[in-house]
Amino acid sequence: MLIQAVNLFNTKNTTQINSNYTNNKASYPNLAPLKQDTVSFSGGIPKAVDLMDLPPDKIIKICKKALKEHFVIGEGQEAVAIKIQDYPYYCIRHIKKGNHKNKQLGLDMKLDKYDKVNHVVAHLSPDTQLMRYVPGIPLKIMRHSDTASGIKVKQALQELVANNFPEDSFKNVIKQVEDAKEKGIDFDRFGENLLVDPISQNMTCIDFSPNFKMEEYNPISFIYHAIDADKTEHAPKILGKLCNAYAQRLLEVPVKKLNLDKLDTNLYARGFEGDPFNYFPDKALLKETEVKLKELIAEKQNPSLHENGFEYMVDLFKEFVDEKLLNYTPPKQEWF
Ligand SMILES: Nc1ncnc2c1ncn2[C@@H]1O[C@H](COP(=O)(O)OP(=O)(O)O)[C@@H](O)[C@H]1O
Ligand SMILES: [Mg+2]
Repeated sequence: MLIQAVNLFNTKNTTQINSNYTNNKASYPNLAPLKQDTVSFSGGIPKAVDLMDLPPDKIIKICKKALKEHFVIGEGQEAVAIKIQDYPYYCIRHIKKGNHKNKQLGLDMKLDKYDKVNHVVAHLSPDTQLMRYVPGIPLKIMRHSDTASGIKVKQALQELVANNFPEDSFKNVIKQVEDAKEKGIDFDRFGENLLVDPISQNMTCIDFSPNFKMEEYNPISFIYHAIDADKTEHAPKILGKLCNAYAQRLLEVPVKKLNLDKLDTNLYARGFEGDPFNYFPDKALLKETEVKLKELIAEKQNPSLHENGFEYMVDLFKEFVDEKLLNYTPPKQEWF
C-alpha cells in the first residue's frame, strides 16, 4: 500500500520523491518516512540501491559513518572488517595500525590485480578499503581463543562441508586459489581467510597476498588447511571432496590454465606446526592419495593416453576416493 501511494508521485528520481514527500507531509500524514538512499522506485518495485551507484560524496559519508559506528564483522592480525549499516553487500577493511586520526577519506576506484582478487571495490585511504561483503564463517579453530561452544559450531559446519557441500563449491574455491597464483598472488591459508557459507554452500577465500613469494603451492592442501578439519572424522571426507573436485578440474580445464608448473604435488611435505595434515587419521591413506594424484597430474602434463584414457583414469581415481576417503572407516585396532 505504502509503495503504491509513493509511486503515485514517483515522477523523476528518488530525490524528487523525498522532496515531494516532505513537501506534502501534511496531506499524507500516514506515510512513514522512507530512507531515500536504501529504496529505489524504478520499475515501481522498491529495491535496495547499490552503494556504488550513489554519488562519491554520499558513499564517503556512508563509509565515514560506518567507521565511526565501528561494528566489527571479523578481525585478522593486520586488519578489521567493519559493517556498513543498510548496505549489506559491502564492508570496510581497515588496517588496525594505520594512522586514521583526521585522515581524509576519498574514493579511488583504480584497482590493481591484487585488489580484484581480494574483493576490493575502491580505496578510501591507503589503509582503508571498501570491499564486497563475503558471507560466511571461517572454520579455522583457534585453539587458544575459541570457546568450547565456538569449536562445536565450527565442527558442525565442517560436518556440513564434508557431507553436504557439492563438488562445485570445491571446484570454485580451487579455481580461486589457482587464478590468484597465476597472477603471482598467494592465498593466506594460515588465518581465518576462508569463509564458508552454509546457506549458499559457497566457500570463498578472502585474503591473498603478493608478499609470500612462495615458489610452489597446492590448492588442495591450502584449502584443506583453511578448513582445518583436524582430528574429526570429517577430515578424510573433506580431503576426498577436494581431491574429486581437483580431478574433475584436471579433466575439464585445459592444461595451460591449471598452473601446474608451480604446483607442489606433495600434499603434505613440510609438516608445519598446526598443519591439519599432522592430525590426518591415516597417514598411509594420505600418501596413497598423493601418489594417485601425482599420476593423474603427470598424465595431464605429458599425455600418454588418448582423451578417453585420461577420462578413465579420472574415473578410477574418483572410485578410489569414494571408497577410501568419502566412505572412510578407521582401521580395526588389533588387540594382543
Ligand atoms: N570481504 C569480506 N567480507 C566479509 N568478511 C570479511 C571480508 N574481509 C575480511 N573479513 C573478515 O575480517 C577478518 C580480517 O580480514 P583480513 O582481510 O583477513 O585481515 P588480515 O589481513 O588481518 O588477516 C577476516 O577473517 C573476516 O572474518
Ligand atoms: Mg586474514
